[in-house]
Amino acid sequence: MSFPKSFLWGSATSAYQVEGNNRFSDWWHWEIKNKKEQSGRACDFWNQYPIYIDYLKQGRQNAFRLSLEWARINPEKNIWNEKALRHYLKIIEELKKNKIEPIITLWHFTLPEWLAQKDGWLNKDSLKHWQDYIEKIKEYFGQEIRYWLTLNEPSIYLYKGYLEGNWPPGKKIALFKALRIRRKLIQAHQLAYQILKTKQNQISLALNLSFDEPGFKFYPLGNLLVKIFQNYTDWGVLAELKNKELLDFIGINYYFHNLIKINPLISRKKNKIFSDLGWEIYPQGIAKVAEQVYRLAKKPILITENGLADKKDEKRPKFIQDHILGLDQAMKQGVPIIGYLHWSLIDNFEWALGKEPRFGLLEMDYEKITAKPRQSFWFYKKIVESYTERV
Ligand code: BGC
Repeated sequence: MSFPKSFLWGSATSAYQVEGNNRFSDWWHWEIKNKKEQSGRACDFWNQYPIYIDYLKQGRQNAFRLSLEWARINPEKNIWNEKALRHYLKIIEELKKNKIEPIITLWHFTLPEWLAQKDGWLNKDSLKHWQDYIEKIKEYFGQEIRYWLTLNEPSIYLYKGYLEGNWPPGKKIALFKALRIRRKLIQAHQLAYQILKTKQNQISLALNLSFDEPGFKFYPLGNLLVKIFQNYTDWGVLAELKNKELLDFIGINYYFHNLIKINPLISRKKNKIFSDLGWEIYPQGIAKVAEQVYRLAKKPILITENGLADKKDEKRPKFIQDHILGLDQAMKQGVPIIGYLHWSLIDNFEWALGKEPRFGLLEMDYEKITAKPRQSFWFYKKIVESYTERV
């Protein structure tokens, strides 16, 4: 295997899951209201970022995905927290000083509580509020950032928050109404793209794209079912966006292999190798998804997330190796892949599942709020060193 020198090797996080003390976010209030495990200080990334960035450096990672917390920047309607904005600038500077490319997500599932209280994305002015936020981001970071991701996984958010109801705002609404919010999120992407686009930067969003195939042998019907199913996932978001020239590359979060059937609709048990969360490990799928995306969109691909919950770190090294092998295969088929970001750098707050699932290359001690490398952290470093072309 050999990857170009410019290949982005790194890992990914999101603000709410690692920073700690995001008291103005809807999730913070949701945890309290529903007596859920609290994110609390999480990984204390907000204060300890120099330590984490030093780990990135030690691990030879040259890229890092992090998000900005809208609620921290805009804690109340029309109020902007300049101190927080400057703090984010410091984090970005620290990354750059260490030759680590910051890849910034603008919205990773959480909303300011003041907006959530007024129906969140359903509010008639939500796009206007989003626009204000993006303008502020442009003012502070417009010249600093090469890679932007506007949104993270719109369809997962809709499913969890509006159909299953297990995440804020905890609603169970009709599918057609959820699709209206999806339209809005797509508009939010377009708006952010138009505001932030320069000749120097690359803008996309992170889509949760699974490898889906028919779960039974009658393929014409099976393939049709897969198409219908995908339309309601981030594959559908991609289909809506790809003709609009508002994507400079495609961000793929790859986690799942789905067998689509009639009843139950999805099953995930072909390989019988699972993560701690019972998610099937299916590295073959990453090349297939990358190839399908490239065929559809003809844009470079960045793997914006890929990882597993594996507390004992028994499966993670092979998991990383096999998925990177998949990327190598896709590249040999002519698919331009510009980078791989492992989810996650650190064990973190896994939304409704709290702190139990362990996705990190670094292991978190939540009592002491300190982190230490797992074996796979060093393994990943070796991969980066041995597979990157030197000249
Ligand atoms: C999300 C992350 C989450 C990860 C593992 C992704 O879908 O973007 O926030 O922690 O999956 O569940």
